Amino acid sequence: MSDINEYHKNQYKKIYRSTEKFVEWLEKLGYLKSDVSQHICDMACGGGANILYLSKHFPKASFTGIDFSQELIDYGNERLKEKNNCKLYQGDWFALEPKWKEKFDGIVSFQTLSWLPEYKVPLKQLSNLNPNWIALSSLFYEGDIEYTIKLKNYYRPSNNSEFGEMYYNIYSLIRVRKYFEQLGYNKFEYMPFEIDIDLPQTDNMDIGTYTVKLENKKRIQISAALMMPWYFIVASKD
Ligand SMILES: C[S@@+](CC[C@H](N)C(=O)[O-])C[C@H]1O[C@@H](n2cnc3c(N)ncnc32)[C@H](O)[C@@H]1O
Repeated sequence: MSDINEYHKNQYKKIYRSTEKFVEWLEKLGYLKSDVSQHICDMACGGGANILYLSKHFPKASFTGIDFSQELIDYGNERLKEKNNCKLYQGDWFALEPKWKEKFDGIVSFQTLSWLPEYKVPLKQLSNLNPNWIALSSLFYEGDIEYTIKLKNYYRPSNNSEFGEMYYNIYSLIRVRKYFEQLGYNKFEYMPFEIDIDLPQTDNMDIGTYTVKLENKKRIQISAALMMPWYFIVASKD
């Protein structure tokens, strides 16, 4: 458990601004409700910090987290052991167990879709579980262009290579909306996440988000060579 990435641990110390804003937005739109006993899934839940945050705000709801990493699941379940409405399970987004079908009112997924090879198979997997709504935060573009971006990060070598590989894909909101419609989710809402706090630049050139303030006082978010077009999206059956 000592190997758990700082990214997951830090969120227990201080929740990310993006999580606060995403949850606030979903509550404002009426998807997350403080007075209703919904069952919510957090797909690719990491170490479970977002579930802890959600459970504090929506105490009547119950939360199931699913993540590929058994290590993160064990870490999260230990941190959440006092909470009887939160439980994490090891699972693969691309091969979800049938037991999860018809179980969730809504599915959220924070900061993961853009890090998968593409969006169609993962969204189809979520719709197969038949929740009323699906909400995700990731990188999107409002126009009809999709970017497949794959990093070779030499700052982060992997076990058998001098670089670590990961995606930072930017998906077209037009295409994602159309795909949700094909899956039977006809209502689609989105919001750009314009961060309202400064994130400092670190003294290295590795990935890691920092902000730059523009003349119009808005901030853009940058990670290494990329501007990060963060959006929140939600698709529902209503
Ligand atoms: C960038 S982290 C985001 C974690 C968490 N949602 C958050 O916001 O802190 C991506 C997560 O996706 C998980 N993941 C990657 N591929 C997955 C898969 N096929 N099934 C389930 N989880 C997966 C990783 O283990 C990791 O915890």
